[in-house]
Amino acid sequence: MLLIQLTGLSGSGKSTIADGTRTRLLEKGLPVEVIDGDIYRNKLYPELCFSREERCENIRRLAWLANRFVSHGVITLLAAINPFEEVRREIKANGPHVKTVWIRCDLETLMKRDTKQLYRRAFLPEGHPDKILNLTGVNDPFEIPEKADLIVDTTFEVEEISIGKLYHFILNTLETA
Ligand code: ADX
Repeated sequence: MLLIQLTGLSGSGKSTIADGTRTRLLEKGLPVEVIDGDIYRNKLYPELCFSREERCENIRRLAWLANRFVSHGVITLLAAINPFEEVRREIKANGPHVKTVWIRCDLETLMKRDTKQLYRRAFLPEGHPDKILNLTGVNDPFEIPEKADLIVDTTFEVEEISIGKLYHFILNTLETA
């Protein structure tokens, strides 16, 4: 079975690609669950914030849950920023069924998209009441994944192409497992 840990900045397309891939896998009759950081954080532990410790704790909890799904034969896509190599490595150490997929996107493009208005707020002047002080990739770290099994770059790519790449990567991985 398969656990895909996605990693990438906010707005890079993790949720869109994970949801689109889920639809295609379901159409093929394969069991799949998406564990989306945005949704699960709010539902399970809204008190966790965005310090390094809390981000690591968030991902460790979600990965634990993801492994429960995997143990029941469900292809599981963990879609969160997941910014730290230490935690990605820990998750990878669960076994060869874990694959790391980096959803890459240029910061310039993310700032143009800015669907949640997070980048605008991170670039507000110091002292502004709406300023975000720890947005990943702007004023909080995003460690480049050193051993990604797949990189999908959404800077210039339309959704369907990116979804297709992850979908085929999953099918190939299942075939060769
Ligand atoms: S992670 O860093 O712990 O992996 P996670 O993917 O669960 O993050 O949640 C990220 C989402 O939280 C973003 O898509 C965004 O909607 C929201 N968010 C709020 N504040 C921040 C912040 N400072 N940095 C990143 N994301 C934030």
